[in-house]
Amino acid sequence: MKSSAVTYSAEQLQIENDRYGSQPPQAVLKWALAEFDSAVTLACSFGAEDVVLVDMMTRLHQSPRIFCLDTGRLHSETYEVMDAIRDRYGVTIETYCPQADAVERMVRAKGVNLFYHSVENRKECCGVRKVEPLGRALAGAKAWITGLRSAQAVTRTATPMIECDAAHGGIAKINPLINWSEEQVWEYIKANKVPYNRLHDQGFPSIGCAPCTRAIKPGEDIRAGRWWWESPEHKECGLHGRASAPTR
Ligand code: ADX
Ligand code: SF4
Repeated sequence: MKSSAVTYSAEQLQIENDRYGSQPPQAVLKWALAEFDSAVTLACSFGAEDVVLVDMMTRLHQSPRIFCLDTGRLHSETYEVMDAIRDRYGVTIETYCPQADAVERMVRAKGVNLFYHSVENRKECCGVRKVEPLGRALAGAKAWITGLRSAQAVTRTATPMIECDAAHGGIAKINPLINWSEEQVWEYIKANKVPYNRLHDQGFPSIGCAPCTRAIKPGEDIRAGRWWWESPEHKECGLHGRASAPTR
């Protein structure tokens, strides 16, 4: 981590959000990489938005930091695109796995597919496989970047471009594609020949863990295939809690 990286207060992040909130993703990425350097890291699930951000970041920085939370339940197609991205851009993917003893305890007590039985069980599994590793991935970071878009879900409509992430010690959370449409994401991927998860061509607009993601039917909401047995207001796994200080 670059120790000289600036630490921003919630008020300063609000000012940066006012400055960059309507600007193109490259503008906010340029600012973030210059300000935070190796103290900013991209949360990459290798979905369409995240591969766009990898492409943009490698044009702006020699060795941008990128991490993946490997839950142990990802699709094999996701591992394929992970390798394709490493080969294409020569980047290191910092992989974080869940704590083995926590997974063992959970699976012994509740079974390997506990998440189908209740929202509580599903949140427990996401807690062990995603949220706890996210805390380790962000240790020492002053900012993180995500591929969130406000059009993705009712839970994301109020998400700003730059926010103060109170859930992770008040570091900056930067969402460069927050104003982008799904069409803009795909235009960028095609124009720049960015490697992408081939499940996107098989009816999966949003991709998470294999047992919790299905293909959608024409006309269905883009996140209808995520935790499809739950109602839309529950469909967050805890990575993007709204504990952040408001910035607009
Ligand atoms: S989720 O919370 O419902 O799983 P979603 O799949 O929409 O999130 O992804 C939103 C953003 O969260 C991604 O663009 C990425 O920045 C981050 N993210 C989600 N899953 C992971 C993961 N397994 N590893 C790293 N980042 C992730
Ligand atoms: Fe567990 Fe499903 Fe959450 Fe993945 S998405 S961590 S398998 S509950």
